[in-house]
Amino acid sequence: MAEVPTGAAAPATPAAPALAIEDLVASYDEVVALHGVSIAAGKGTVTAVLGANGAGKSTLLRAISGLIRVRSGSVLLDGADVTRRRPEDMARAGVAHVSEGQSVITELTVEENLRVGTLCRMSRAARRAALAQAYERFPVLADRRRKPAATLSGGERQMLVIARALLAGPRVLLLDEPSLGLAPKIIGQVMALVAELRDSTGLTILLVEQNARAALGIADQGIVLNLGKVVAAADAAALAADASLLNHYLGL
Ligand SMILES: Nc1ncnc2c1ncn2[C@@H]1O[C@H](COP(=O)(O)OP(=O)(O)OP(=O)(O)O)[C@@H](O)[C@H]1O
Ligand SMILES: [Mg+2]
Repeated sequence: MAEVPTGAAAPATPAAPALAIEDLVASYDEVVALHGVSIAAGKGTVTAVLGANGAGKSTLLRAISGLIRVRSGSVLLDGADVTRRRPEDMARAGVAHVSEGQSVITELTVEENLRVGTLCRMSRAARRAALAQAYERFPVLADRRRKPAATLSGGERQMLVIARALLAGPRVLLLDEPSLGLAPKIIGQVMALVAELRDSTGLTILLVEQNARAALGIADQGIVLNLGKVVAAADAAALAADASLLNHYLGL
């Protein structure tokens, strides 16, 4: 008679996702714009957040970073509940948010743009280290550090915006349409940069994009929002292969 194995070890508890959104409901005053959105994003992954105009993509990022009212549901960072924290507390907790259309101050130099606001709470040494890291990561910005940001191309300005968001050393990066207004060739470069950041830093990134194909090309997983609800959530490759879904919700 075969022996029945006993005392088998219980399966290890899987680590909490770096960012978990659970059944999030958020509103602008009386108007509910998110109706129970959930996402689990592992450390060092890119999640593409897709959807037509008005689907709720920016609202989702605003609700996570504390800019609008969360009615119910939760936001967890590495398992810790950070729902309804104020934006500055979310930043301190390690969430950086690059909002839609956010740009640089063209009259200031590249370095002044990096210094503005973001670095004021740091010690001198930490500030120097953060700037050095930004220049190492973005050599184009190092070459132009004393030039006005007005002299940068659209893609370089987007790089500067992202570099500024990374100065505080976040663990989660919320990017709202980084390709907005960029030429198709440059969009590919920005997507490659996002992928490179994930791979080299282990950042967890939510990438809101109108350019679904470009975003899915580098993302690990994706969700499609429609009228404030998740209508699809899958591996990026599976979403990219679902022509009828992309056509129905994104008009591709
Ligand atoms: N400040 C606001 N006050 C009231 N309603 C808003 C506000 N901002 C957005 N909304 C509404 O919330 C819903 C979701 O908008 P949201 O901006 O999140 O869409 P989006 O997916 O980011 O669209 P887009 O692709 O155009 O950026 C829309 O119905 C929109 O009209
Ligand atoms: Mg938006």
